[in-house]
Amino acid sequence: MTNLIYCMKNIVVFTGAGMSAESGLKTFRDMGGLWEQYRIEDVATREAFARNPEMVLEFYNMRVKQMREAKPNPGHVALARLESKYDVQIITQNVDDLHERAGSSKVLHLHGELIKCRNIHSDIEIFDMPENGLKVGDLCPGGHQLRPHIVWFGEMVPAMVEAEVLIRKADLLLVVGTSLNVYPAAGLIYVTSPGCKIILVDPGEFNDLPGVTHLQGKASEKVPELIDSLLNM
Ligand code: OAD
Repeated sequence: MTNLIYCMKNIVVFTGAGMSAESGLKTFRDMGGLWEQYRIEDVATREAFARNPEMVLEFYNMRVKQMREAKPNPGHVALARLESKYDVQIITQNVDDLHERAGSSKVLHLHGELIKCRNIHSDIEIFDMPENGLKVGDLCPGGHQLRPHIVWFGEMVPAMVEAEVLIRKADLLLVVGTSLNVYPAAGLIYVTSPGCKIILVDPGEFNDLPGVTHLQGKASEKVPELIDSLLNM
């Protein structure tokens, strides 16, 4: 941390489920995580929605409810504070709105957003998610069934190109709370430009990440500490 002796301007923060864990939203692959309770192929694919839309909508409606009850944690708040001195771009795999609610102004969602929905045939028109989520029979004005605005497994990640462009401009890439298991998103840490410093905040163990400084600990503790040192540089 102390040897961040650069002329830093652009900071990109790449976040995953661990960022929101201390706001009470479950991660996917930790013990007790969402993918221990549910099978991806039952709730997070187009095929699952075609087979059993009620089950898929119930899964996302529960997550909408939990998101609405959750509040940003000190990690989210610290990242918003960083904008007082740096150009900060958040790229998140998270589908919650906690970065925005904490005050971050530039947030790119790679895997969609729970506060939005769209019809099953097109992602051109995006609608607000109804307060209590969606049910079978909820239609767009054109008469097609609505679905959550979420990137399901097997679907394209439309924001990847924009994310890569943003990461190439970064002087510092701060990665928080992701197991780096899901591609193409996880590959973003390999597209930085030469000279970009990469710092990972996560309580887990990581091997084989050459050139990455791992600050082992929770987002709500390590992120504010790091942000304080960046603001005091
Ligand atoms: P994972 O559940 O795979 O990983 C969560 C990471 O958060 C792990 O590395 C944990 O060690 C870390 N973690 C846990 N508690 C933390 C805390 N308090 N502070 C910081 N880190 C903590 O979640 P993601 O990597 O985000 O995609 O998963 C990527 C994608 O897989 C998700 O966007 C979702 C999922 O399937 C889709 O649904 C398309």
